[in-house]
This record gives sequence, C-alpha cells and structure tokens, in this order.
Amino acid sequence: MRSYSDFYRRSVDDSEAFWAEQARLIDWQTPPQQILDASHPPFARWFVGGTTNLCHNAIDRHLDARGDQPALICVSTETGLERSYSFRELHAEVQCTAASLLALGVKRGDRVLIYMPMIAEATFAMLACARIGAVHCVVFGGFASGSLASRIEDAEPTVIVSADAGSRGGKVLAYKPLLDEAIRLSKHKPAAVLLADRGLAPMDRVAGRDHLMRDLAAQHRGAVVPCAWLESTEISYTIYTSGTTGKPKGVQRDTGGYAVALAASMPHIFDARAGETYFCTSDIGWVVGHSYIVYGPLIAGMATILYEGLPTQGLDRQPDGGIWWQLVEKYKVTVMFSAPTAVRVLKKQDPALLKKYDLSSLRALFLAGEPLDEPTGRWIGEGLGVPIIDNYWQTESGWPIITIANGVEKKPGKLGSPGVPMYGWRVKILDESTGEELSALNEKGVVVIEGPTPPGFMQTIWRDDARFVNTYWKSVPGKMVYSTFDWGIRDADGYFFILGRTDDVINVAGHRLGTREIEEVISGHANVAEVAVVGVADALKGQVAVAFVVPRNADGVEGAGALALEGEIMRRVADQLGALGRPSRVHFVTGLPKTRSGKLLRRAIQAICEGRDAGDLTTMDDPATLQRIRQLLWP
Ligand code: PRX
Repeated sequence: MRSYSDFYRRSVDDSEAFWAEQARLIDWQTPPQQILDASHPPFARWFVGGTTNLCHNAIDRHLDARGDQPALICVSTETGLERSYSFRELHAEVQCTAASLLALGVKRGDRVLIYMPMIAEATFAMLACARIGAVHCVVFGGFASGSLASRIEDAEPTVIVSADAGSRGGKVLAYKPLLDEAIRLSKHKPAAVLLADRGLAPMDRVAGRDHLMRDLAAQHRGAVVPCAWLESTEISYTIYTSGTTGKPKGVQRDTGGYAVALAASMPHIFDARAGETYFCTSDIGWVVGHSYIVYGPLIAGMATILYEGLPTQGLDRQPDGGIWWQLVEKYKVTVMFSAPTAVRVLKKQDPALLKKYDLSSLRALFLAGEPLDEPTGRWIGEGLGVPIIDNYWQTESGWPIITIANGVEKKPGKLGSPGVPMYGWRVKILDESTGEELSALNEKGVVVIEGPTPPGFMQTIWRDDARFVNTYWKSVPGKMVYSTFDWGIRDADGYFFILGRTDDVINVAGHRLGTREIEEVISGHANVAEVAVVGVADALKGQVAVAFVVPRNADGVEGAGALALEGEIMRRVADQLGALGRPSRVHFVTGLPKTRSGKLLRRAIQAICEGRDAGDLTTMDDPATLQRIRQLLWP
C-alpha cells in the first residue's frame, strides 16, 4: 500500500497533476482545457473548459457494464415499502421525471426546490435536475414553513417538488400544508408544484399550479431525455446552511469539480468499489445525503440504500433496534456512513443486536457531523468489530476535510480525533486574534484552510460573492484564509481534534442550526423584549438549544405566566423553523450579559450553562446579569 503522507504531499505540492489524474475517474464530454484557474482568489475554478454531467456519471456510464445491477435500494420501515431499482430502471425513472420538469417549463440554470421525505422520487428529482442542467435546492423535510419560505425566496425556484407527507416513528407529518404556507409567506411564487402522493395525508391542490408526479409520469413514461453537457464550472446545486446571521447561506456547488471530488473520495477515503452496496443513514436534505446517499455511490457504480425510518424500527414495522444491521446483512453493505447521535440512540439498546446479523461484508463505519465522543466510538467499534472512522467536514466542503484515507493507507485512528488532513486540503490552526499560525502542539486555535481550495468545495454563496468572501475569507486578521469556524488542536502525530464552533452555530443531533435564526423567531413573540439562544451540551443529541428571554411583561418571569410563555415560545420555534430548533428550556431573566458595545455574550452564557468558567469578562457591561443566570441555574 502507498504511504498516505506521500499521497498527501503530492496533492498539495503538485496539485494540478494530482487532480488531473483524479479527473480521469469520471467521464467528460469535452476534456478540461485547464485544470485550475486560481487567478481570482479566493475563487477556485476547477477543470475549466471541460464539459460533463453528474447524472451521466451517476447512471448512464454504468449502463453497459452494470445496467441490471441494483443502483437505488429504497427501504421504508414507515410504510413497509422496499424496492430496488437497477441502473437501467433508475435511468428510465430519472428521464421520466426530467421530461415532467421540462414539461413544467424548467430550463437549464433554473432552480428546482425539492422538499421531500426519503423516498425514491426525491432521488429521481435530484438526478433529473442534474440531467437537464437545472439547479436543485433540496430543503430538509424537517424544516417548517418559515425556514422553507426564506429558502424559496432566496432560490426563486421555477418548480417545487414535494410530497403529501413524511413519516417518523409511525407519525405522519403532512408536508403539503407547510409548503402552501411557505409559498404564501414567500415573495417569490413558483410556476408549478410537482407532488408525490404517498397516500399518507390528504392534499388540497391549487388548480393550474399543483400537479401529481404520477399524472405527469403517465404522459412521459419511456421518455428519452439526453444529458445536458454542462461546463465544469456550471452550478449543479445549492444547499442552505446556517451561519452567524439569521439569513441562511445558499452554498453553491459546481459540476465537474464536485463529480471529481466525489469520484476520488470513494476509493481513496471510503475504500469503496463498484458493484458493492453503500449505506448512508443521513437525509437527502443535508450535504452528507447529497454526497454519500445520491451522487458519490452512484458515480462509483455502487448500489446506494435510501432508508426512511428510525434506527430502532424493524422491516416488519415493529420496534427492532437491529434494522441497520439487518440491511447490512441483506444487501451485503461494504461501507456504511452515519452520525454519532444515531449511534448514541442505538447504545441505549441491547448490544446483542449488533451480533444478531451477519456483518461480514462490512469493512468500515464512517461517522460525521459532530464530535465523536470516545465512549460512543469504542462501544460501536467493539460491537461491530470493524474500524470506526470519524470524518470532519462541512456543507461548504462537500466531502471530508479531515479523516483517515482508508483506501490509501489504513492508518490507525485515534479516539476523539477525526484524523489527518485529506489530500487537497491545506489545513492550518491559527490564533483567532493575531492570525499567526500556531505551531506549538495542542495549542487551541481556529481551523482554517489555505486556498486554492480543492475540487468539490463550494464555489460561492448563491448570488452573493461578497458575502462568501467577507464571511469566510476575512474573519482572521491579516490573512485571506477560509475559516471553518471550528476550534481545533493538533497533536505530535499530526492528528487534529475538533473542539466546537467559534461562531453562533449549534449542532443538534448532527444537524447544524443557527442560534440567530432561532432568536429571530423568538423575538417575534409579542411578550419577548430580548433573547439569547445558546447550544448546551447534551448526552444524546450532542447539543440542544436553550433560550434566555427577557419578557416585556414582568409577569412572564415567574409562575404560571412563565410556564405558559415557555410553552408558547417552544411551539413558535417548532412551527416556524421545525422541531430540531425548539429550545429544550426557556429561562426568563431580567437582563442579558453583553459587552459594553452591546454584543451578546453567548459564549459566557453557554459556559455557565455547562458549569464551566465564563472566561474573560473584562469587556462586560453589567456583570450582575451573568451572576443572576448563574444563580438561576446553579442555586
Ligand atoms: O462544527 C463542525 C461539525 O459540524 C459542522 C459542519 O456541519 P454541516 O455543515 O452540517 O456539515 C456536516 C458534514 C459532515 C462543522 O463545522 N462537525 C462535522 N463533522 C465533525 C464535526 N465536529 C467534530 N467532528 C466531526 N467529525
């Protein structure tokens, strides 16, 4: 086996030659004329002049060699549906959906917003967009109408693809009323809405605007829709993520760079091979779902499992904590990808479930999205008897930044560390205030990436280059480097440890949320004068949101009034943003700690909540506010 350090060195010292080689892992209609155009930093344009198509690489190019092999395996323990589509069947379904979108007036470059549960039609819609060169914007199905409306307004989709409902733990969640409310709230109105009807919830349809997928499919069954050959730098999709302000950022991805990055990650990082089965338990609404449920495995010629349901349900819809392992056995999964939170849920069950099924096909389990705590990593590693590989990345990066390249050199992992920088990523740790590189071991600083960024990394923020540059590339003084907004340290062996966010982003059960978005919803309540939301450590979910509210009306501070207000605030967040952001507690206070210039000291509040020292408070305006919070929480 090669040495990983040589592999890495080449990727940064001779980066164009390295990526030119990786580019051969995909099909090009026209080969790239220039590997990298970095003439306008911090923008990096990969494989300039090349033309390709994500859908062609995911489906069409496999038809000759493996047309009848499984490509998409859909399993729902919510509805009991289990169905596998071969590459050839997927090819037909995607063309049919593509023809439906074209019939609704979607053109190359138009946006199509997808708000769907984990069903086959969601994948068809994504691949159909890629096929015709439309830009898909998938919005996580757990978001409610307020979040959805702001995304519709920003993306300005021609068509929205949705469904009657999702289902979670047997509870039906109607999507259509949330979508209708979101469209009502949004200034932009889509020309058409395309709906999958699962028969789970009744749907009111707006005449002339709303169409059923099955009606259009009946008209377009057997359609032949050729792939549009896109410039490598043409947009494939945008995906919204949270940041420091309340306005979500549309992370924009290219076509050729993303295809190459994913194609390269499959053998090098995941040690995954064509003809095998990949099982990623994320959701298509998140970046992990885009890269490793839909595009990565299919580009590699693998079958991918799309699973709707809890990890604790069985195929017979009875509670059974062994469902994942049952699927591994049944579909001979070789590579699996999940999140620490999900494993912590499984940890509450009988460990014998990990031994109940034949897992001999499985080579490794990758976990990402939040810090992997040592006890959880050890528990699942011992239970499964396969390597557990932590990987650190972001919506912005598109694929892992720090992990172990399992297909290059099977380096040992270290519990608590995601590993070492991946090929192509120039990862540094800098002092937050001086911008100096921290070379001392185990010294805490901001994790940054030096440009040019590798293929697959975001191109920009949708329609806002200035925000992309100012938010990400100008946060460290004196240096134009990309800030991950994560704290980190590096040990003597070059392994990184991630120590949480430097900004106001929190991570609830592996889902990234902005505390500002939650605060904005809470401040909309008539009896809220001021609010601070912080993320507080939670044994199961990693973090939960906790709100500190200054009510307008002093009655709200104690007793029955406070209890009622707490309930109203929680409901308000769940209704507008979705259940993930709902604060687990709302505390009522008479004032919030701020700096003399009026900046909320969220980090200090968070420290008090977690029983830690609140740090340097010399810039604080009224220390009594923090004292009162301490007394409230730790009487
Ligand atoms: O804070 C880091 C945390 O999740 C953030 C990115 O979240 P998101 O954009 O949703 O992308 C998830 C893609 C896997 C990071 O800034 N994070 C992600 N992975 C890890 C992590 N923190 C610690 N260890 C990880 N492995």
